[in-house]
Amino acid sequence: MTTAPTQTATDRAFNFSAGPAVLPEPVIQQAKKDLWNVFGSGMGVCELSHRGPEYDRILEECLADTREIGNIPDNYHILFMQGGATLQTSMIPMSFLPAGKTADYFDTGKWSHDAAAEASKFGSMNIAGITRDENYCRLPTEAESNYSNDAAYCFFVSNNTIYGTQYNRFPNTKAPLVCDMSSDIYCRPIEWNKYAMVYASLQKNLGPSGQACIMIRDDFLQTAPDDTLPKLMDYKIAQKKQSRYNTPNTFAIYLMGQVVKWIKSEFGSLAAVEKYNIEKAALLYDMLDNSPFYSAHVNNPDERSTMNIPFKTTAPDLDKKFIAEAAQINLSTLSGHRSIGGMRASMYNAMPIEGARALVEFMKKFESENA
Ligand SMILES: Cc1ncc(COP(=O)(O)O)c(C=O)c1O
Repeated sequence: MTTAPTQTATDRAFNFSAGPAVLPEPVIQQAKKDLWNVFGSGMGVCELSHRGPEYDRILEECLADTREIGNIPDNYHILFMQGGATLQTSMIPMSFLPAGKTADYFDTGKWSHDAAAEASKFGSMNIAGITRDENYCRLPTEAESNYSNDAAYCFFVSNNTIYGTQYNRFPNTKAPLVCDMSSDIYCRPIEWNKYAMVYASLQKNLGPSGQACIMIRDDFLQTAPDDTLPKLMDYKIAQKKQSRYNTPNTFAIYLMGQVVKWIKSEFGSLAAVEKYNIEKAALLYDMLDNSPFYSAHVNNPDERSTMNIPFKTTAPDLDKKFIAEAAQINLSTLSGHRSIGGMRASMYNAMPIEGARALVEFMKKFESENA
């Protein structure tokens, strides 16, 4: 076991995309084989019945490995649902925001802003904290937070993919915590006892797009209504039917299974994954903090993401030049989101440290030529 995934292929770029994002090299190599013939069955992984023994094995192994490496307690169900993370933002208030109750939402970036707007279509929604006026360059403090009494739940996004803030604390409320971890799930250990529900779309740290993975505590799940929701938006049906009421995205679940196997064999624990991610991100933050030419979007070290790091040079034209020249040496997809401009380096679990080193070397060279 090593704690340093490497990139050996020479025909692949260092891919800094925010998502869909880089996958571990061994996972892609294995998927190439399994697309042709999985488990010696003579059938490819996309050609299997979702009710046959080969897929049973794929699902069972994925669930077992996800539970083991994530240390997920037995009273949490692991579900798969289609519609990515976005559908979850509709399903959560449909299921857990009854009439007469209010749900608290932290507005800390585009995804939580949209989730809050979606919730207000279904019931009473309170913004518990917001940093929109500061272009989301920080998280609301506890002193600024405004919780409702007896909230149905409190929603937050643990890592703001576009703006590069990441929670290293929990909202201080007694309400059940519901968290979108789309861009940082399994980048570090998870304190399950803090959460009623966690979900993530797979396409950053766990696999391909179009699929969400949901970890939900049983007593919270039981508060969802019975038999009144559309079938594919009913968490209880998904749980009873082992996430296959209809035909699931079997390939996404297969690929997530391969990614969690890779985390197990490459790192052995989420604590080791976290250490690696901190080391990678520190290379870039050190560069940003020690250069007058570059600036980071987020300044508070306690709130800086290890996954997504937005930054700028001194001028928009130089940012464009930076992105174009970086692409020429296979440092790909470094454009910032259109809402903040500049650059963004997304460095999920599968980004090797060599990628961060190559980026920092390029940044030094670019600064010396353009400052
Ligand atoms: C934190 C977060 N939540 C939600 C989403 C939306 O995910 P999807 O497109 O899978 O619905 C994204 C996508 O980048 C995200 O980063």
